[in-house]
Amino acid sequence: MSSKVLVAYASKMGATAGIAEAIGTVLREHGHPVDVRDAGDVGSVTPYDAVVLGSAIYLRRWRPAAVRFLRRYADELGDRPVWLFHSGPVGPDREQTQEMPAGVHRLARRIGAAPATTFAGAILPATAKGFIARHLATGNLAGDSRDWQQITSWAEGIAEAIGAEIRDHGHQVDVCEIGQVSTIGWYDAVVLGSAVHAHRWRPEAVTFLRHRTNDLRNRQVWLFHSGPVGPASDQLQPMPRKVQRLARRIGATPAMTFAGKLTQETADGFLATRLARTQLAGDFRDWPLITAWAKDVAAAITSIEVSSWHRPESHEPSR
Ligand SMILES: Cc1cc2nc3c(=O)[nH]c(=O)nc-3n(C[C@H](O)[C@H](O)[C@H](O)COP(=O)(O)O)c2cc1C
Repeated sequence: MSSKVLVAYASKMGATAGIAEAIGTVLREHGHPVDVRDAGDVGSVTPYDAVVLGSAIYLRRWRPAAVRFLRRYADELGDRPVWLFHSGPVGPDREQTQEMPAGVHRLARRIGAAPATTFAGAILPATAKGFIARHLATGNLAGDSRDWQQITSWAEGIAEAIGAEIRDHGHQVDVCEIGQVSTIGWYDAVVLGSAVHAHRWRPEAVTFLRHRTNDLRNRQVWLFHSGPVGPASDQLQPMPRKVQRLARRIGATPAMTFAGKLTQETADGFLATRLARTQLAGDFRDWPLITAWAKDVAAAITSIEVSSWHRPESHEPSR
């Protein structure tokens, strides 16, 4: 089971960006889809299950883009596991832990993140920006002090923590009306259900299957439909022929049938209102059956090999 991770960084001369890339590589090696982005270029953290944020330190301050990132997404970050790091000390001071600036401290507390881990940085003549940096790049602070082993083992700890989080909390699920789904790019599995009216699926469910055939083919997909009511409520419903063809195309097994509900309070339209006055009226939904099916689906998702999972990078949300 994988989790989509954002590694955001704020870097001036490239050293912190390099650390962020190394962290991204380790997380990918552990099966997590990762985006490594400049913090200033991130338009949303909603698609991500976990976030790593790193900033370079200049004159004891974090880069403004990193601080803005924390401030702007504080609410969403509060709902996700977040790891912070900063890159600063160089030369003889390279092993000195750096304190987070007070404002960053407050934001970290607000989102429930632990204090930033300090990584040594780099000042190199080739990338030094600004008079002071160029001057320092010729002195005893010059050089690349980044400790790749330390960075790798920190990232491995994150990969393991994310894995444990998923094992403890099960799958992360969004329940959406079909019309509101703009992309399935970041989902690893899809459960799609439609009401059955006059032996037909809802048009929006059919359109969804038709328009997203390629995306769905790369994922685990489970289908269900809710239809039979009244005395026939325990009868299996065959999928409409059109839906059968689409299901075959995406490699999904036939839809599970769940009994439905038809009551006067919720009946919509002339026919439904009339039928809601007949022996078809009532709530026939079988909750133990629905629960048992959902448990089977959950178990099947868990047993999917991480290595065979579709990698959603090619389906980036357009932001
Ligand atoms: C002008 C200047 C000020 C710096 N101030 C600090 C500092 O206050 N604390 C620190 O640990 N490192 C400091 N450094 C070192 C940088 O944080 C280090 O070079 C870092 O790796 C740069 O990251 P970047 O390449 O991603 O911009 C400073 C470097 C320069 C050039």
